[in-house]
Amino acid sequence: PTIHVITPTYSRPVQKAELTRLANTFLHVPNLHWILVEDSQRRTPLVTRLLRETGLNYTHLNVETPRNYKLRGDARDPRIPRGTMQRNLALRWLRETFSLNVSQPGIVYFADDDNTYSLELFEEGRVSARKVKPSVVARTCESNPALHSWRLPRMRSTRKVSVWPVAFVGGLRYESPKVNAAGKVYGWKTVFDPHRPFAIDMAGFAVNLRLILFKPQAYFKLRGIKGGYQESSLLRELVTLNDLEPKAANCTKILVWHTRTEKPVLVNEGKKGFTDPNVEI
Ligand code: UGA
Ligand code: MN
Repeated sequence: PTIHVITPTYSRPVQKAELTRLANTFLHVPNLHWILVEDSQRRTPLVTRLLRETGLNYTHLNVETPRNYKLRGDARDPRIPRGTMQRNLALRWLRETFSLNVSQPGIVYFADDDNTYSLELFEEGRVSARKVKPSVVARTCESNPALHSWRLPRMRSTRKVSVWPVAFVGGLRYESPKVNAAGKVYGWKTVFDPHRPFAIDMAGFAVNLRLILFKPQAYFKLRGIKGGYQESSLLRELVTLNDLEPKAANCTKILVWHTRTEKPVLVNEGKKGFTDPNVEI
């Protein structure tokens, strides 16, 4: 199956750096389709060029989050969570593009532009991803037990919804689904609101495309949801706890990090700007 990676992105000094790192990761993943959705009135030349030059298979979309929704903490006008309208547009695009009868096998993953993704998240193993000769793979795995874990099923084998831990969220080293001895998810190892239906970060799950197509009304809720409930607002339309498929060695390995990039200090640019504005950063 193709992995459809949905990434919301917006213009800021570090945008090109973030997208470059992301593209460099995705270039290692076979059969990946990147749906990049700009939070902007138009598709920008910077992103257009970057996508064209990566050589990745991609779709470039855009929708602007209304300015007044971006405000934080205003009770009269609760903000739309970041990236929500962009992810919903991508879901609509998938439904319009892959109708049920001509459905192609696919997996949908929401990858924010600033996180860090291990290649092991996508594949049944880096070994097979690199197309190493089967004989070499067998020998390597036998002699090095660490390599066995690389061959465990990852997101590409998702039947409905698969889940795994995410590092650096909720004030913890990592948050994780709780998995019992039978390999079933029965709850959430989180401190922040563990009673959410799905107490999991955006980077911690993937959905089979078939499920997205079967449930055409399932979108992220834009309004009236508390912080941390965005993921639940989509997932509760798609599955129950019982359906979840733990990955990353039964949720014992960290394969994605919710990293956040420091805003660069550009004070010496001054009001007019010191450096050449025609040089793209
Ligand atoms: C956390 C979660 O990990 C996000 O999945 C969630 O969307 C977000 O909170 C939220 O609800 O506010 P966080 O690191 O705080 O993530 O958010 P960002 O990384 O700043 O934004 C998430 C995504 O939306 C990024 O891909 C970013 O480029 C994009 N974004 C952000 C926009 O498209 N427009 C914006 O105005 C801001
Ligand atoms: Mn982020």
